[in-house]
Amino acid sequence: MEEGSLNTEFVLLDTKESTFDETWKPVWGEVSSIRNHYNELLVQLQQKTTGKKLNIRFRLFNDGLGFRYEFPEQPNLKYFVLKQEDTEFALTGDHKAFWIPGDFDTEEYRTVTSKLSEIRQKMKDAVTSNVSQTTFSPTGVQTPLMLKSQDGLYINIHEAALVNYSAMNLNLDDRSFILTTFLTPDAQGNKGRLQAPCDSPWRTIIVSDKAGDILTSKLILNLNDPTRYQDTSWIKPTKFMGVWWEMITGKSTWSYADVDNVQLGVTDYSKLAPSGKHGANTANVKRYIDFAAANGIGAVLVEGWNVGWEDWFGHQKDFVFDFVTPYPDFDVQELRRYAASKGVKLVMHHETSSSVRNYERHMDAAYRFMAANGYDTVKSGYVGNILPVGEHHYSQWIVNHYLYAVTQASNYHIMVDAHEAVHMTGLSRTYPNLMAEEAARGTEYEAFDGNPPDHTTILPFTRLIGGPMDYTPGIFETQIEKVNPRNHNYVHSTLARQLALYVTMYSPLEMVADLPENYERHMDAFQFIREVAVDWDDTKVLEGEPGDYITYARKAKGTDNWFVGRTNDEEARISHITFDFLDPSKAYLATIYADAPNADYKTNPQAYLIRKIRLTSKSKLDQYCAPGGGYAISIFPEK
Ligand code: NOJ
Ligand code: CA
Repeated sequence: MEEGSLNTEFVLLDTKESTFDETWKPVWGEVSSIRNHYNELLVQLQQKTTGKKLNIRFRLFNDGLGFRYEFPEQPNLKYFVLKQEDTEFALTGDHKAFWIPGDFDTEEYRTVTSKLSEIRQKMKDAVTSNVSQTTFSPTGVQTPLMLKSQDGLYINIHEAALVNYSAMNLNLDDRSFILTTFLTPDAQGNKGRLQAPCDSPWRTIIVSDKAGDILTSKLILNLNDPTRYQDTSWIKPTKFMGVWWEMITGKSTWSYADVDNVQLGVTDYSKLAPSGKHGANTANVKRYIDFAAANGIGAVLVEGWNVGWEDWFGHQKDFVFDFVTPYPDFDVQELRRYAASKGVKLVMHHETSSSVRNYERHMDAAYRFMAANGYDTVKSGYVGNILPVGEHHYSQWIVNHYLYAVTQASNYHIMVDAHEAVHMTGLSRTYPNLMAEEAARGTEYEAFDGNPPDHTTILPFTRLIGGPMDYTPGIFETQIEKVNPRNHNYVHSTLARQLALYVTMYSPLEMVADLPENYERHMDAFQFIREVAVDWDDTKVLEGEPGDYITYARKAKGTDNWFVGRTNDEEARISHITFDFLDPSKAYLATIYADAPNADYKTNPQAYLIRKIRLTSKSKLDQYCAPGGGYAISIFPEK
């Protein structure tokens, strides 16, 4: 036995079995109440040679299993360094897998669909343009890992309640099909520093012969603790616009000056010559506020409002941003007044530049500044390699930082949307101001090198199993040249499908990501975005097959209104749905926003048709979906 190992030579001290059954109400969510029902087995072990104690707790639900390691308080184990975790998931065959490469710093990959045995050879297909990539193994993959066996069993492997522990990757033995956990190392190569009593995160396996059951499983949330917050009334789901897509596409810039012509180490930004391309100027922000106010969009995000971008670009340094000093053309007071007068909230952006200690140094002042200036949500970001050098986006210390930011923000009643942070593990149950994260390849990549059309038919089965994603849907002008003539990329989606994403890519913070002028040309289609909810009483998966299509129906919170969304891969398909989820005693008026017969994500993305029909719970629909297309339906009870 290796010195310090907790793998073998255990005696069984005791086992305890119990049953739990409780229904709880999330602060926000896909459903208004959640049943947490499981049988538990606690196995208490002691190592013969060392006397060390280790417990394993199993919770068996109708739709899967969670288990974790618990290190109880004991004399022989107090402070210890975790060298590795050896949990294995032994699969029964060469399943179809929806995977991204194992990595300690980014999830911004294209998902590859292949047999497990093909992962080694297909690793290069999983491109990302994120420079920080640190793929650790030729057969390593990240979780949530979605699998389908040859006899049609859907299996999802992930982790729940990732707290004070490094994030899990999986390493595949592609002869035996055994996956072994591979934890993210810290700067010394250790996997964590623990202090008993403590627990590992839950290792989770969700299983069903219906793909839709994986999407509606609440296993991960149920394995997290109830909320720690006394008062959650300040936590409010919303749609938001943003001075954002114009920078992502390259039409305007985050920086105030022309970065190529600026000397580094700028301290007096008032002396900088403006480049004329700065997006976050007061007049431009007002334009977004006006559009949001006129169209029922609750908030506006502004990126590039604060000084430091000139110094940061291409030169990662420790002290670039202070998160409280605006550029000369961004008038904090005036925008505070203006937004409030229009009933629109502001979302502040904190690009931490992955300088994590710098962010922690400024955090309290930054959140105080937000609260004082009418901002109730922060979009944070962790672009680039983590400082301190050698730490990773998913190592224990940085995992702790993300949660620290969330709890500190809660002191100021601030909601958090973190980009480039660690994958979600259901922590929003305990800390419901953790509204969303990116932690995958979002819409931004459409402006770089594209997301394949099947991307949004997979993400709900992978990334979203852990929690909401800020996917930033709603791009109507899919030919990016129309926004920035120098950018020749395009969004791999029809316009109708951009509407559907508000239903299929669940998030309590849902971005309305395009520019106001692009919406103004399609206000008939925009009507769906105006009306669609962001918080739900009920959710049904009507159709679903990872990699091919997903159709969701959701009932808006506290209403009898339903919204349906369908996302399609690159093939033209017919969707067949029935409306038996509707109240049989009511008649409804539905508006269908669908691909026109000649629509195509590449050649004719803006060809959509809008029609109104009456519906009852007996109605059926066969709806054409174009390549890269889909549809959205709003359903309101007839008055
Ligand atoms: C990457 C984020 O995903 C994106 O939304 C943001 O605009 C940039 N970083 C700049 O911080
Ligand atoms: Ca990103």
